[in-house]
Amino acid sequence: MGNRRPLIAGNWKMYKTSSEAVETARQLVKHTASAADVDVMIAPPFTALSAVSEVVKDSNVFLGAQNLFWEKEGAFTGEISAAMLISAGCRHVIIGHSERRQHFGETDENVNKKMKSAIKNDLIPVLCVGETENERESNATFTVLDKQLHDGLEGFSADDLATLVIAYEPVWAIGTGKTATSDQAQEAHQFLRSLVDKRFGNMLAKSIRILYGGSVKPNNIAELMAMPDIDGALVGGASLNAETFSQIILYKE
Ligand code: PGA
Repeated sequence: MGNRRPLIAGNWKMYKTSSEAVETARQLVKHTASAADVDVMIAPPFTALSAVSEVVKDSNVFLGAQNLFWEKEGAFTGEISAAMLISAGCRHVIIGHSERRQHFGETDENVNKKMKSAIKNDLIPVLCVGETENERESNATFTVLDKQLHDGLEGFSADDLATLVIAYEPVWAIGTGKTATSDQAQEAHQFLRSLVDKRFGNMLAKSIRILYGGSVKPNNIAELMAMPDIDGALVGGASLNAETFSQIILYKE
């Protein structure tokens, strides 16, 4: 893993009211107080961000959002800007999650605009890419990853991307209990890193973190993290319970 500091991120999706999120965040802060050498991030729903930011502010848990809209402000009913996320205490933002691509028509072009807004506003983007089951079965995995990464990062320089986090999330492994094998994940991570190397240079390729996501659990995290190009995890279902999520974060202990 070189000098990359691991990041274990929890995506709470459309779960938890504000008070439920606060309670889970409180427990998480307590359970992970001893976590050294690892960054922890949680992404609760928008409605819970401000309240949760109070809970995590003096802890080693960072706050992230699950999405943003690229415009600065305006008549965009239902949307949330980067500045709004920052004012709610966010440092990270998940961009291009497969559920947004699948259910909300998010395209690589939208993803690119969101990436630009995040970076311009100093939010750390967690850019999600990953192939569907059909794409894997038809041997299109690398083509899909190449396009998603290429289009998502259009117009950036290596300097712009210093904080970039990529999350490789095979769609067939999300919420299904079917994890990619550590070898399958490593192969995809290595490929993604090589794309960054070719386009933005070796310095950036060596320093950016690539997370694996898709049915990460306490019993498979160690095997995934043992892979040289896996720098952390983006965890959905297993991040909703503070104790289970802490077991993933503290997998070495
Ligand atoms: P999962 O979700 O851990 O429930 O598979 C991962 C994700 O969607 O980020």
